[in-house]
Amino acid sequence: MRDPKTILITGASSGLGEALAVDYAGEGIFLALCGRDAARLEAVGERCRDKGARVDARVIDVTDKAAMAEWIAATEAERPIDLVIANAGISAGSGGRGERAEQVRKIMAINVDGVMNTVLPAIEAMRAREPTRPDGAPTSKRGQIALMSSLAAFRGFPGAPAYCASKAAVRCYGEAMRGELHHLGIEVNVVLPGYVRSRITERNTFPMPMLMEAEPAARRIRRGLERNRARIAFPLPMYWLARLLAGLPLWMTDPLLRKLPKKAAAKD
Ligand SMILES: NC(=O)c1ccc[n+]([C@@H]2O[C@H](COP(=O)([O-])OP(=O)(O)OC[C@H]3O[C@@H](n4cnc5c(N)ncnc54)[C@H](OP(=O)(O)O)[C@@H]3O)[C@@H](O)[C@H]2O)c1
Repeated sequence: MRDPKTILITGASSGLGEALAVDYAGEGIFLALCGRDAARLEAVGERCRDKGARVDARVIDVTDKAAMAEWIAATEAERPIDLVIANAGISAGSGGRGERAEQVRKIMAINVDGVMNTVLPAIEAMRAREPTRPDGAPTSKRGQIALMSSLAAFRGFPGAPAYCASKAAVRCYGEAMRGELHHLGIEVNVVLPGYVRSRITERNTFPMPMLMEAEPAARRIRRGLERNRARIAFPLPMYWLARLLAGLPLWMTDPLLRKLPKKAAAKD
């Protein structure tokens, strides 16, 4: 969508969500933002207000299904939401010692259920909109939904099994829903970044090829959304590497992937 005016972003208190919020902020823009850390979220809200945007920043955990449904319905009632970015997510790995069960469940709860708690009420709201403009002419555009996946979605890495699985679920769901919602004029896009500097990657002690800053990454995502790209995947060499790894037989890639450094396990 070229010119979204009402934009809802989950996980806007840091990293990619923050960069997206600040990039979209401007006169005439209404931003509905959520995150869990009140101070960081409020600081992002202030940066967006300084650029002229109206901001409703709320401390909401995306795993809280009822709170998410209530927030999205309230935002929609105020101004129809043009663009929803289901961005909130966490990452942790095995640290080479296997993932704890609680960590696996937490990653799935936030990265998969949290995305569903965002996307499903958004679809419901967009579906319910009149398929005609106020002047009675048919409209082909009812809204846009972006799901934050990752290049880690194409192949399970031994260093981060639950994270890869959660992002694969999001990618597959988003790609399917793009076709499912096309006839309603709801655009669905899957975002697949490589390494981006953020609170998620700051704990990585291993080399991160083609690491990007969050601001240029946000601009790439915005351009992709304006062009309604099915997959917004970058950097391109990393995308093709991910596709190659996914396309090769497992017996060929398993020994290599076993040797890669393992992402650290979550502290809590
Ligand atoms: N950085 C990368 O290299 C990379 C690559 C591919 C994909 N991604 C994806 O990009 C998304 C953003 O991550 P990031 O890299 O920008 O990391 P980040 O700086 O840690 O940002 C994650 C955001 O998600 C929010 N969040 C986490 N759990 C939440 C919950 N239960 N409820 C509400 N908000 C929650 C965090 O808010 P609080 O801190 O306030 O809880 C924060 O605003 C994630 O989905 C991640 O998987 C990142």
